[in-house]
Amino acid sequence: MSPSFTLSSPVNTALVLYILYYVQRVLLPRTKIPDTPPSEFKGGYSWMPKSHPPTLLFTTYTTKTLLPFDGVNGGRILLAIAGTVFDVTAGRNFYGPDGMYGNFAGRDASRGMAKQSFDIEMLTDIDQPLDKLEDLTSDEIENMKGWIDHFSNKYIICGRLVENDAV
Ligand code: HEM
Repeated sequence: MSPSFTLSSPVNTALVLYILYYVQRVLLPRTKIPDTPPSEFKGGYSWMPKSHPPTLLFTTYTTKTLLPFDGVNGGRILLAIAGTVFDVTAGRNFYGPDGMYGNFAGRDASRGMAKQSFDIEMLTDIDQPLDKLEDLTSDEIENMKGWIDHFSNKYIICGRLVENDAV
């Protein structure tokens, strides 16, 4: 005798109800938006944040367009090392106007990082071509690379630094 499907069996009835319940959950998902963001994935992606989270656009900077990002008045803080621009806003204590390394804010910090000095003389005038760093010793280059590693692990890379006349 071939097996036949009958609803009179309690197991089958339960199975059909179970399937119907999940079909209606798929076809008619709950659309009520919770008041608070969900802390775990449960009911699908029906929750929308109130606003889009901040985004970061990878941008080409020159020494002049980088300068305004010096963190004065609470704004974003960027600095460049060997052509890579980092958003170091999270390190405001270091790079803000009162920070120990505030000189680097909005500037090409390559030479200072290489020579382990935050003196103002380490910075190239923003009207001048980019510092080619050709006179650095191999130890200084290694030191600078060490800082690039540190910054890459800690901050977001948000652009590259090019010559003023390159854009
Ligand atoms: C007077 C000597 C110095 C002292 C006492 C000092 C102290 C410190 C301290 C306590 C930190 C924080 C470390 C951490 O929490 O991870 C730090 C980080 C740092 N220091 Fe110094 N430092 C000195 C000299 C310098 C110099 C000469 C430079 C020049 C390049 C420099 C560049 C930095 C940088 C770039 C950071 C990393 C900040 C960050 O993570 O954003 N420091 N320093």
